[in-house]
Amino acid sequence: MKVTVFGIGYVGLVQAAVLASVGHDVMCVDIDANKIENLKKGIIPIYEPGLTPLVEETYQSGMLKFTTNPEEGVSHGQIQFIAVGTPPDEDGSADLKYVLAVAETIASYMDSPKVIIDKSTVPVGTADKVSAKVASVLASRKVDIDYDVVSNPEFLKEGAAVGDCMKPDRIVVGTENENSRKVMRELYAPFNRNHDRMIFMDVRSAELTKYAANCMLATKISFMNEMSNLAELLGADIEAVRHGIGSDSRIGYQFIYPGCGYGGSCFPKDVQALIRTANGIDYQPSILEAVEKVNYAQKQKLFENLNDYFDGDLAGKTVAVWGLSFKPKTDDMREASSIELMKALWKAGAKVQAYDPEAMEECQRIFGAQQGLDLVGTKESALKGADALVVCTEWSQFRAPDFDLIEAMLNHKVIVDGRNLYDPQLLKDRGFAYYGIGRGDSV
Ligand code: UGA
Repeated sequence: MKVTVFGIGYVGLVQAAVLASVGHDVMCVDIDANKIENLKKGIIPIYEPGLTPLVEETYQSGMLKFTTNPEEGVSHGQIQFIAVGTPPDEDGSADLKYVLAVAETIASYMDSPKVIIDKSTVPVGTADKVSAKVASVLASRKVDIDYDVVSNPEFLKEGAAVGDCMKPDRIVVGTENENSRKVMRELYAPFNRNHDRMIFMDVRSAELTKYAANCMLATKISFMNEMSNLAELLGADIEAVRHGIGSDSRIGYQFIYPGCGYGGSCFPKDVQALIRTANGIDYQPSILEAVEKVNYAQKQKLFENLNDYFDGDLAGKTVAVWGLSFKPKTDDMREASSIELMKALWKAGAKVQAYDPEAMEECQRIFGAQQGLDLVGTKESALKGADALVVCTEWSQFRAPDFDLIEAMLNHKVIVDGRNLYDPQLLKDRGFAYYGIGRGDSV
C-alpha cells in the first residue's frame, strides 16, 4: 500500500520504517531539510535500538523514501499519517498547530480519496477538528474528494519502539467508516497474525484510549511512589510490598516499580493535557491532579536525601550522578529526574560530575553552558573526588558496580539510589549511608 507519513520524529520514523519493512511503499515528509538529508545518509536523529539498520535497509530497498516536498507526499499515499508533535502550550494543553497545519497541507494538494490518520497523541475531539479543516480547504478549492479522519494512537515505548511497533499488544482504530476500517485492516495485516489485535471503535473513544492508557500507567507509578513514602515512614520495605502485591494477578508486576518519578515525553505531558481537557469541560480530575502532584514531589527526593545527609550544607560539594536519561536505552532527557536533581544541586552551590551511557550529548546540548557541570566519560570518573553518588537511571551497567572502588573514590560513604538497584543491607554492612526509595530505615 502507498503510505505517507508527515512528521519524522520518534513515532513517525519508527512507524514509517516498520511499515516499509513489511513491504508497504512509504514516503516520509518533514519540513526539516537537514533531518531529511541526514536520514538519506543513514544518520538517525534519535538513539533507538534497532532503528538505524531498519531505516538503512528499507531506504536502500526503496520502500522508504524521504522528502521535504509536501505536494509529493500528499500525492504519494492513499494513507496519510499525521505524526507531528503536539507540544504542551503554556497551560499544559496539547498545542495542535502542527497537526492542523498538516491537515491543511493534505487538503490543499489532495486530488484523490485519502484516509487521514491521527497518529500523534491528540486531545479528544482533534479528529473532528482535522476533519473540519480538510473540509474547509476542500470547499475553498471547490472540489469534492472523499476522505476520512481516523484515530490510530501509538503505544510504543522509547528504547523498545521497533519491537513494540512490530509486535503491538493492540492496534486501536477509531473510525466508523467501513472503507477506512478495511484499509486499516489491510495496512496492519502483517502485524495482526495469529490472533486479532485490532480493536475498532469510534474516533473519540480511540483518542481517549491513548490518554487513559498513559494516565493509568502514570497512576500506577505515583501510587507506588506514595506507598514507598509510607513504607519509609512506617519502617516497611516497598520492594517486599511490591512483590507482595504484584503476585496478585489482578494487580500484576508491571509498572509498579517505585523510583524517583516518571519522566519522558509522554506521561508528564499526557497527564497534564488530560487535566486541561477535563478543566475545559468543568470537570475536576482529582486522581490525575494527585498523580501529577505526587510525581513532582518524588522528583525532589534525591536532592532532599542528599540535603538530609549533608545537613543542608551542599555548597562546595561535588555529586557524582549516574544516569541522565529519563529511563535506560534512550538518550532522551525530557522531564528526567536528573534535571530536577542537578538544578537543585546547582542552586545549593554544589557541583555535578555526571555520566550516562547515551545521553551525554543531549545533556551537553541542554546544559552545555552551565557552571558546575562536568560531563565525564565513564561511571568511575564521575566518582573522582566526589562527595556522594546518586543513581538516577537504572542502566544495566550501574546494577553491579564495584563497591570497593566506590568506597575508595568517594569522600563520603553515601549512595542515593533513585531506582532501588542495590541491597540496603549489603551497603549498610559496608558502612555506607544508603538512601533508597521506600526501603524502610535503610539509612
Ligand atoms: C510511555 C508508555 O509506556 C507507552 O506505552 C506510550 O506509547 C508512550 O509513553 C507514548 O505515549 O508515546 P515511554 O515514555 O517511552 O512510554 O516510557 P516508559 O517506559 O513508559 O517510562 C516512563 C517513565 O516511567 C520513566 O521515567 C520510567 O522510569 C518510569 N517508570 C516506569 C517508573 O518509575 N516505574 C515503573 O514501574 C515504570
